[in-house]
Amino acid sequence: MGGDLDFSRRGVIGAGMAGVAVTGIGLADGAEAQRPAGGQTTATMSVSLTVNGQARTLDIDPRTSLLDALREHLKLTGSKKGCDHGQCGACTVLVEGRRINSCLSLAVMHDGDEVTTIEGLGRPGALHPMQAAFVKHDAFQCGYCTPGQICSAVGMLEEIKAGVPSHIATDLNRKPGATVDEMRERMSGNLCRCGAYSNIVEAMVEVAGTRA
Ligand code: FES
Ligand code: FES
Repeated sequence: MGGDLDFSRRGVIGAGMAGVAVTGIGLADGAEAQRPAGGQTTATMSVSLTVNGQARTLDIDPRTSLLDALREHLKLTGSKKGCDHGQCGACTVLVEGRRINSCLSLAVMHDGDEVTTIEGLGRPGALHPMQAAFVKHDAFQCGYCTPGQICSAVGMLEEIKAGVPSHIATDLNRKPGATVDEMRERMSGNLCRCGAYSNIVEAMVEVAGTRA
């Protein structure tokens, strides 16, 4: 991200955390102020993302979460809003190949980043192996948590491949591996109110090609 944007973001985050309306803050080059009729000034900022392989530029309120940018501005509604507080994982997407809770991250923090949502992982007729495994193993019921579960599972297996440590591997004093216990631990931020966990594990086991 560019320096101008970093400077502006810090100002915005500070203002947002204090619960102050974004008025009168320093704006980066390219940012503009909008004054709705009879209303308060609303600052917008330009953010450029590559979303599912497509370059997208948005002029948005800098307080917009990445989740809202995807769902409300880009109409990519596959990523779900469960809690909006980082507690359920329904909003999980991949940013630069790493899984994040998109409800906890401001879109402007990702200027220049590559974002992959469930819509970009695969498509009908050419599903990502994790999507296909979820279908095969009935790894969902209502499906609300499923996009987040799938994006998280894809990111999780990449973390294991890259040797990113986990609590369970550290506790057992061993290298990260795609065991059932470790996959469960690493997926503990993705909740499923329908309780499809055992089927989700079956799907992940198939893609990982391992058994505990
Ligand atoms: Fe983001 Fe629940 S909606 S963690
Ligand atoms: Fe319903 Fe997970 S399938 S919440």
